[in-house]
Parts: sequence; structure tokens; C-alpha cells
Amino acid sequence: MDPSLTLREILPFGTGHMPEIVDLWVETWSKTLPAIDFEARRGWFVDHLVAARDDGQAIRVAFTQTGDAAGFLMIDPATGYLDQIAVGSRWWGKGIAEALLEEARRLCPDRIELDVNQDNPRAVAFYRRNGFVEIGEGVNPRSGLATLKLEWRASMPAALKA
Ligand SMILES: CC(C)(COP(=O)(O)OP(=O)(O)OC[C@H]1O[C@@H](n2cnc3c(N)ncnc32)[C@H](O)[C@@H]1OP(=O)(O)O)[C@@H](O)C(=O)NCCC(=O)NCCS
Repeated sequence: MDPSLTLREILPFGTGHMPEIVDLWVETWSKTLPAIDFEARRGWFVDHLVAARDDGQAIRVAFTQTGDAAGFLMIDPATGYLDQIAVGSRWWGKGIAEALLEEARRLCPDRIELDVNQDNPRAVAFYRRNGFVEIGEGVNPRSGLATLKLEWRASMPAALKA
């Protein structure tokens, strides 16, 4: 197995991780929603990350065997609201996102809720495969794009998780 594609550990976010995480965020979201200029939103994301950390959100970073930051997650342990999981496109399909979701479930073992853009089929498929179900629809206030509200519950009947 290529060590540069293999998870080594998941660590709490530290300020020193900021440049790598911001680059990763711009790269993966630009590939996911190419119509949006994520490079222009770099500053917004830095502020978002700092505010989330200061508000007590849990931010975790996944590192490969070669020490690269391959992905991160942001979740509010008080509410179970998952701001996002983001994995650099080089690591898509390598199990890094699943490991981060596992960490999110460790932090919020009862229930997790999130909003995902409807035109992000990769993310929707990922969350559905991992037991999330649709509980509503909405609109992203920044982009104006249609969203789905998804929820995972530890107590959800197995039939609904399919
Ligand atoms: C969403 C994300 C974390 C998922 O991680 P990942 O490693 O890419 O996920 P996986 O490869 O395990 O699963 C993706 C699934 O989508 C499927 N998929 C890919 N493109 C698809 C498409 N256009 N339509 C439908 N399904 C699609 C894949 O086949 C895979 O499903 P399968 O394994 O059952 O075949 C990652 O893609 C990412 O960081 N994306 C950018 C940021 C983002 O969208 N974050 C989520 C917002 S909350």
C-alpha cells in the first residue's frame, strides 16, 4: 500500500496545520463545485475555521503515513452538527473520509446532522452509504444552492440505514 495514500493518525487541529488545511479546502471544493471560485473564499474559510475553533467545535485532521494532511472534519460536539468533512481529491476513495466520519461518531455517538449541496452527488452518496438519511431540504445562504439535510442516528433502524 502506498504510504502517501494511507492513514497514519487523526489529530486535533492546531494553528500550524492552517496553511495545509486551507489549501486542501480550496483544492477539494474547487474540484467538487467548479462553478464557484473557492480561491476567492480563502479568507472567508480562514475566519470560519478560527471562529469554529473558538466556538468549541471539534476540528480533526487526518494525516498520512508520509505526514501529509489528507482531510479534516469540523463538528460541534454540543449539537452533533457536522460543518463538513473534506478530503483532498488525491485521497478520494481511499477510506480517509470514512475514518474521519468514524471520528465524528466517536465525538457525537448519538446523532449527527449536516447540510450538503444537492449537486454534490459524491458527498451525498458517501453519507448515504454510511447510514445518513434525508430529513429535509434547504438553501445554502452563501451560494444560494439547494441543499439536503441529512441525519445519522445511532438508534436508527437498520432498514432505514440502507
Ligand atoms: C465528500 C467526501 C468527504 C467523500 O470522501 P470520498 O473518499 O470521496 O468518498 P468515497 O469515495 O468513500 O465515496 C464516494 C461515493 O460517491 C460515489 N460517487 C462518485 N461520483 C458520483 C456521482 N457523480 N454520482 C453519484 N455517486 C458518485 C462513489 O462511487 C462512492 O460511492 P461507492 O463507494 O459506494 O461507489 C470527499 O469526496 C470530499 O472531500 N469532497 C469535497 C468536500 C465535500 O463535498 N464535503 C462534504 C460536504 S459536507
